[in-house]
Amino acid sequence: MAKNILLLSFVALTCSYLALAYEPKPLQDFCVADSDSSGVYIYIYIYIYIYITRVNGLACKDPLMVQASDFSFSGLHITGNTSNAVGFSAEAVNVVQVPGLNTLGISMVRLDYAPWGTNPPHTHPRASEILTVVEGSLEVGFVTSNPENRLISKVLQKGDVFVFPVGLVHFQRNVGHGNSVAIAALSSQNPGTITIANAVFGSNAPIASDLLAKAFQVDKKIVDQIQWKF
Ligand SMILES: *[C@@H]1O[C@H](CO)[C@@H](O)[C@H](O)[C@H]1NC(C)=O
Repeated sequence: MAKNILLLSFVALTCSYLALAYEPKPLQDFCVADSDSSGVYIYIYIYIYIYITRVNGLACKDPLMVQASDFSFSGLHITGNTSNAVGFSAEAVNVVQVPGLNTLGISMVRLDYAPWGTNPPHTHPRASEILTVVEGSLEVGFVTSNPENRLISKVLQKGDVFVFPVGLVHFQRNVGHGNSVAIAALSSQNPGTITIANAVFGSNAPIASDLLAKAFQVDKKIVDQIQWKF
């Protein structure tokens, strides 16, 4: 028994070590994310181990149990609800929605914009993004890193494509008369999104307002006001 546990620990350690790589080229056809730990003892053991060590990525489902549904998603034709403060909504299709994306380094998103709707400045820490406008027109842009902080922006029409390099702050805004729709692909199964305003002014717990007042070179009252909104 003790010997078995030692062996299992070794297997689990090996698996989690391999899983530390940055979305490596898969070494198999697929590794569908397994959300079901029922049954087999070794799986439960590895699950507990993985849960504790928080490996990068997700454990694979038995390939023989994999179904078409693991690789599919429905509903990207549905218009998103843009009745919110920014007039924008995003419907992500990543490894959370499609477990078959695990280890493949790719995902997508549908973006909806009301007139003047804005996808506020944000970054994807783990993905570059390639976006195409399928309806309406969008002003898009990204800002290069310090010290230049150069804004690279353009107005896109239906059918136009634009790229946002990994990690850079970027945004889109609907500059057409009606609604706009875009579809984007991202180079990660789990790109992550950091919306700058939410991270800076809406963090939990809040960043000290006098610190932000200094960073933004404004009165602390203005910072308090913005923090209150988030
Ligand atoms: C859209 O979102 C708003 C705000 O959350 C909500 O009040 C409204 O019912 C939603 N509309 C639809 C059609 O779901």
